[in-house]
Amino acid sequence: MSEPKKLFIKTYGCQMNVYDSERMAEALGGQGYVETKSPDDADMILLNTCHIREKAAEKVYSELGRFKGLKAEKPDLKIGVAGCVAQAEGQEIMRRQPLVDLVVGPQSYHRLPEMEAKTRTGEKALDTDFPEEDKFEKLKNRPKAKRGPTAFLTVQEGCDKFCAFCVVPYTRGAEVSRPADRIIREAQDLVERGVREITLLGQNVNAYHGAGPNGDMTLAGLIWELNKVDGLERIRFTTSHPNDMTDDLIEAHGTCDKLMPYLHLPVQSGSDHILKRMNRSHTAESYLRLIERIRAARPDILMSGDFIVGFPEESDADFQATLDLVDEVQYGYAYSFKYSTRPGTPAAERPQVDPQVADERLQRLQALITRDQRKIQDSMVGRNVHVLFEKPGRQQGQMVGKSEYLHAVHVADADVAVGALREVRITSSGANSLAGELV
Ligand code: 5AD
Ligand code: SF4
Repeated sequence: MSEPKKLFIKTYGCQMNVYDSERMAEALGGQGYVETKSPDDADMILLNTCHIREKAAEKVYSELGRFKGLKAEKPDLKIGVAGCVAQAEGQEIMRRQPLVDLVVGPQSYHRLPEMEAKTRTGEKALDTDFPEEDKFEKLKNRPKAKRGPTAFLTVQEGCDKFCAFCVVPYTRGAEVSRPADRIIREAQDLVERGVREITLLGQNVNAYHGAGPNGDMTLAGLIWELNKVDGLERIRFTTSHPNDMTDDLIEAHGTCDKLMPYLHLPVQSGSDHILKRMNRSHTAESYLRLIERIRAARPDILMSGDFIVGFPEESDADFQATLDLVDEVQYGYAYSFKYSTRPGTPAAERPQVDPQVADERLQRLQALITRDQRKIQDSMVGRNVHVLFEKPGRQQGQMVGKSEYLHAVHVADADVAVGALREVRITSSGANSLAGELV
């Protein structure tokens, strides 16, 4: 038998890309590839790119440039670009960087095996179409490898919201939901392979409306179906848009036992003027009222969010409104970004905020968020939480897992296996994690 070929995948960006990279590795596994941790011994290098951050495409080009030496040494090495930069740039990538053999957009991963075969004949392979088929269904004939206790499962892709700063509607395309029965089968399969917690993924996950047995299902409907899967202990989902938080989903947070008390619900800004300019179609007030309703359903829910500071036209008063909103919500986690232009999006054309002012605002916002985050994490001390253990810690005998609130929890001398779900009493709170003892 010949040596297996080696595949090196570098993944950038969101959890959806992590999920996609796993699927790509499995698809190429059928072509005789095994994964390697180093590009140096790879027969194929795939960059699974992200277009959200600034100068994303430029960074991909400079990363590609670094493979020049490798390719010169090893002419059979194939280099591919996947993900949102591949979608956005398309053929341009091969024009600017001739060492690239393959460009594949996020909707075409099921075509990777044939594309790889094409590159082996010395041709280039490009596919950035948006086909009308379920790529994950086409990717599913994979070996039943054991999995860790947590997994992502993509249920929805793309977005129709067109926030004025965001490239997702252009790179991932229109909103598409996968049929519920396929998702449930995939969840059952994951559980058989050792998974106990599933995070449902989608750019706009709570807009989910996949086909079910009696017409379209909501995300809450899907969660209730997954709640019945034996052996599955925990369900999470991300990322949600405030306008798609339907009543049944809010209610599920109070009544569905496997749905975890954690919700990532980006607001982006606390100023109605800026929200309007962002094309967010909600106000600060409607967002705050929504959180009130969610907390009425599940009082201990931990809220998380995303913010953009320095969006075009953001004044000191607009920024103060963001600080006020953060103060009111008390986020357990929040991610904040300085606005940066994405060519082709509406906001790119507008007058930009002075970068120094934006920097200073970002620092102030992050300080406030860190303060709340820390306060909420510290408030766990003395409480009992449930921890799903994921891996051994750095110290001998130590095990690490996540609480229902997604806090990392360390337990010393823990006689528990990876995948165990156990009650833990929290004894102390560190910089980024909690420590506790088994109850
Ligand atoms: N500039 C800064 N942040 C952005 N995000 C998306 N596009 C941009 C941009 N052009 C942030 C948003 C989103 C998160 C994933 O990334 O806050 O929720
Ligand atoms: Fe982008 Fe999210 Fe807005 Fe969709 S809802 S356009 S993914 S920020």
